[in-house]
Amino acid sequence: MSDKKLWSGRFNEPTDAFVEAFTASVEFDQRLYRYDIEGSIAHATMLARAGILSEDERDLIVDGLKQIRQRIEEGQFEWSVELEDVHMNVESQLTTAIGDAGKKLHTGRSRNDQVATDIRLYLRDEIELIRSEILRLQQALLDTAEREAETIMPGFTHLQTAQPVTFGHHLMAWFEMLERDRERLADCNKRVNVMPLGAAALAGTTYPIDRHYTAELLGFDRPSENSLDSVSDRDFAIEFSAAAALIMMHLSRMSEELIIWSSAQFNFVDLSDSFCTGSSIMPQKKNPDVPELVRGKTGRVFGHLVGLLTLMKGQPLAYNKDNQEDKEPLFDTVDNLKGSLKVFADMIPAITCKPENMRRATLQGFATATDLADYLVRKGTPFRDAHEVVGKAVALGVSKGCDLAELSLEELQGFSSQIEEDVFQVLTLEGSVAARDHIGGTAPAQVRAAIGRARQRLGGE
Ligand code: ARG
Repeated sequence: MSDKKLWSGRFNEPTDAFVEAFTASVEFDQRLYRYDIEGSIAHATMLARAGILSEDERDLIVDGLKQIRQRIEEGQFEWSVELEDVHMNVESQLTTAIGDAGKKLHTGRSRNDQVATDIRLYLRDEIELIRSEILRLQQALLDTAEREAETIMPGFTHLQTAQPVTFGHHLMAWFEMLERDRERLADCNKRVNVMPLGAAALAGTTYPIDRHYTAELLGFDRPSENSLDSVSDRDFAIEFSAAAALIMMHLSRMSEELIIWSSAQFNFVDLSDSFCTGSSIMPQKKNPDVPELVRGKTGRVFGHLVGLLTLMKGQPLAYNKDNQEDKEPLFDTVDNLKGSLKVFADMIPAITCKPENMRRATLQGFATATDLADYLVRKGTPFRDAHEVVGKAVALGVSKGCDLAELSLEELQGFSSQIEEDVFQVLTLEGSVAARDHIGGTAPAQVRAAIGRARQRLGGE
């Protein structure tokens, strides 16, 4: 009735039923099956080349593993909790299928180096998928930024109107955050793509294995250096989680802005109906659920980072069963990160921008006050004095309920004799943004140049 444990030799009593379920990981680590099988095929291939397995044994093992993979994919594989994890489920069914050759697969390795290898193979694939989702989102931002290179909106500091910026410039700020994220993942992958296999339980193995060959078969950059470190190291998962936390933090900031902008009070953008939901009681509502949920998911991804750090804290070398707890947070991080990036990449092109509302808002907060100060500086006033003069002009505007550009020349000249008719050119929104015309500035020409450079950077991807 029960599947015989692969490690039962020294045991006289059966495992307590609850302990069996408590210690098993198959429920969640079965998602590693493809990597487990890929790793086993490479291991068996290496063992045969090293003369540790016969070629017939290797062929039986490789064919058997491929059949198991197919059975799993067709939903024909029965996972057993008694067999604890994905590794022992696969190995046990292999032996059932091919007999004694199956029992030789585990020669020269341990589940400790096996599981570390599986996770790295898994994460390497996921990093590639995540990087291409980021890229898709970046492309969407570039297209939208290009369309909105001249659209003027208020730029904020402290969420108070600061200076006019272009919407394209704002979107390119998001692009830059994501560019760092994509780079960070590529860098993280350098440490993910190292092969622990061959470390065996902790000390290496007595068989004449060829770790360079196995690493080559699996597309790893190199075998790991130290067997004790190899089976216990989860830095790569923590590093990935930190990169994931940063991405989610960025998405949460974008989410927050989209939520604010789509409120009736701001009304800068309209999110497409397909990314919003209604209220069951208030008929007028169109809620920005997608950005809200992404903002919310950021919390659990941060939590997983701290969870993994805490999992590893104080663990003595080498492998400890604690490490089995690395998978659920890692999988959940990957799933939620991928989902959030996908929904963002789909949502961005469907955003409608409302330039008239953005313009009206920009005209309301004395956004060109700095431009007036810079104008006075150009005419010879020291900046601190100019700041003071403009402050007074703003106070007059506040009391009259009008913008600086709506004050008369006489009124403005009352604050400084250096002000002349040409001041009104400087006080326009277009003049204000166009004047910030250097690399990194908000002038439409600079935004277009930045988009061009960004496209070139992405060109090779
Ligand atoms: N299921 C285990 C894990 O996820 C595999 C390694 C088990 N090794 C051991 N010595 N019990 O970490």
